[in-house]
Amino acid sequence: MRFKILRKDGFARNALIETKRGVIHTPAFMPVGTNGTVKAMTPEEIREIGYEIILSNTYHLYLRPGHETVKKLGGIHKFINWHGPILTDSGGFQIYSLASLRKITSQGVEFRSHIDGSLHFITPEKAIEIQLALGSDIMMVLDECVPYPAEKEYVEKSLKLTADWAKRSKDYFEKHRNDQAVFGIIQGGIYDELRQKAVEEIVKTGFDGYALGGLSVGEPKEDMYRVIKNIAPLMPEEKPRYLMGVGDLMDVLHAVEHGIDMFDCVIPTRNARNGTLFTSQGRISIKRSEFKEDNSPLDPDCDCYTCRNYTKAFLRHLYMCREILSMRLNTIHNLYFYCRFFEKMRQAIADGRFQDFKKEWMHVLEKNFS
Ligand code: GUN
Ligand code: ZN
Repeated sequence: MRFKILRKDGFARNALIETKRGVIHTPAFMPVGTNGTVKAMTPEEIREIGYEIILSNTYHLYLRPGHETVKKLGGIHKFINWHGPILTDSGGFQIYSLASLRKITSQGVEFRSHIDGSLHFITPEKAIEIQLALGSDIMMVLDECVPYPAEKEYVEKSLKLTADWAKRSKDYFEKHRNDQAVFGIIQGGIYDELRQKAVEEIVKTGFDGYALGGLSVGEPKEDMYRVIKNIAPLMPEEKPRYLMGVGDLMDVLHAVEHGIDMFDCVIPTRNARNGTLFTSQGRISIKRSEFKEDNSPLDPDCDCYTCRNYTKAFLRHLYMCREILSMRLNTIHNLYFYCRFFEKMRQAIADGRFQDFKKEWMHVLEKNFS
């Protein structure tokens, strides 16, 4: 994997991540395909909208259908019919948010499956082993995503564990090395000095890219913004920087301003299924009665498949009837909207007008019609 910075505008970067399965233009948004599918979309539709990379989850694919099964079937790309780059998260977040009876020891984490209650033990080595079997292009190390709020002492202890796990992940990967890339994850809660320590430790171990984890987990925005502002510049300049699980576009603008390159989030897809749609005029809730006889498209400035062919009245009707097509059409639009936003943002950085872009969009994003 190679990372090439094309242009900088302040700390914002317009760059390329080159992988054997294709190039990723950054800042990049990765749609979430937890079970190997971006919900309601075919891979062709995701590609057609303009996405260059998707995210999938180690935790889910390990439990179902099982990483050995995926490997036997020819690897994740063949299995899901997405032949572009795939990043797999390690499970270091899903285990904490989905599984029950978690028991963390220095060795790893024991948990019960959220599907059938079966007992599992994942070590940092095992998390890499699973991702090697899946064959994703970018693997993430197993970490502990510290909840909010958490005492500083707890966060400090957790940090040691995450740093130790990162080292073990790297050692294991070195022994089984192939052309897959591995990213390290920086934790540390809302404590700047712990975050700084985490960057030093994780960078010392050395990875192909670095992620900020443990943000957008319930902490006040100002804490998240401060951590991004203070820590992103400490992450190696010449490697991709990934902000995990953050996809509110306001947050994205702030993070890109401070040098973040990659994002993933369920916001566009989950909101679409809940009838919350992003438009150039602000956010709307399609179920509102004001749209009952509205013959206009969802977003007059959007040329996605949904906006070219359907009215708000019909989208509302589909939603009220809980039709499958509602989820499909809404997801197509929201993903298209996100993709165009990132495209315009990259162009703004390339043109040296990121600050103007940010100002314009802050204005739109503050509008909320739901
Ligand atoms: N996704 C969102 N936040 C996190 C995190 O802190 N760790 C991991 N592994 N995945 C995440
Ligand atoms: Zn649209």
